[in-house]
Amino acid sequence: MNKLVIDRDNITLEDAREMVRLVNILYFRQKTYEKTNWMGINAAKCPMDMWVYQEIMHSLKTDLLIETGTLFGGSALFFANMFDMMGKGKVISIDLKLQKNLPQHPRIEYIESSSVELKVLDYLTAEASKAKSVTVILDSDHSAQYKLRELKEYSKFVTKNNYIIAEDTCFDYYPAWPEFGPGPTAAVQKFMKANNQFRVDRSKELHLLSFSPMAFLQKIM
Ligand SMILES: C[S@@+](CC[C@H](N)C(=O)[O-])C[C@H]1O[C@@H](n2cnc3c(N)ncnc32)[C@H](O)[C@@H]1O
Repeated sequence: MNKLVIDRDNITLEDAREMVRLVNILYFRQKTYEKTNWMGINAAKCPMDMWVYQEIMHSLKTDLLIETGTLFGGSALFFANMFDMMGKGKVISIDLKLQKNLPQHPRIEYIESSSVELKVLDYLTAEASKAKSVTVILDSDHSAQYKLRELKEYSKFVTKNNYIIAEDTCFDYYPAWPEFGPGPTAAVQKFMKANNQFRVDRSKELHLLSFSPMAFLQKIM
């Protein structure tokens, strides 16, 4: 067994990094995302990531945010409220099966469908062509195969300098959920190998706690 031994009087940077990794595993395994709410509605996210999303939206003047995976709509409402403060913007949130009683907001459009359905992709192509700055957040099916498919399709909508976030790479990165098998990290690795339009921006993990390590992908060309 490879045990972590720490000299408390002389903690190295390497020790600290390992502790951060372990804290990330603990944070995820405690299922804190099930108890994290925005305006009383569950948002299955790490709040540190949500803070960074707000910074991306504001700094890049996002006017269209596409989200795959709605669940209870807490994240869609969060993005819509950020747009309220920015005075512009629209959220399109897609889910295989939309829940009843989703939060209603004039800036949110919900679509019930598989995220890779051709009709949906055609609609998103049209909506993205009307927007100046597009951010994409992938939070639906986290299997490596599906995430890679979404990455390929949805990366087309992202505008230059903006981001696609392949959420929940924590599953197979730290790994916080090794039993899940090949997940978002495997998808990102494959995606990044085959394209030079994006770079992995690790500066977006500055708060150390993140469900999406190596998953903030910035479009550079
Ligand atoms: C992790 S939850 C989304 C959480 C939500 N974005 C939030 O932060 O609160 C994943 C959602 O993806 C949906 N989903 C699973 N497979 C999908 C697919 N192929 N297309 C669209 N949505 C899918 C599920 O129904 C589920 O509601």
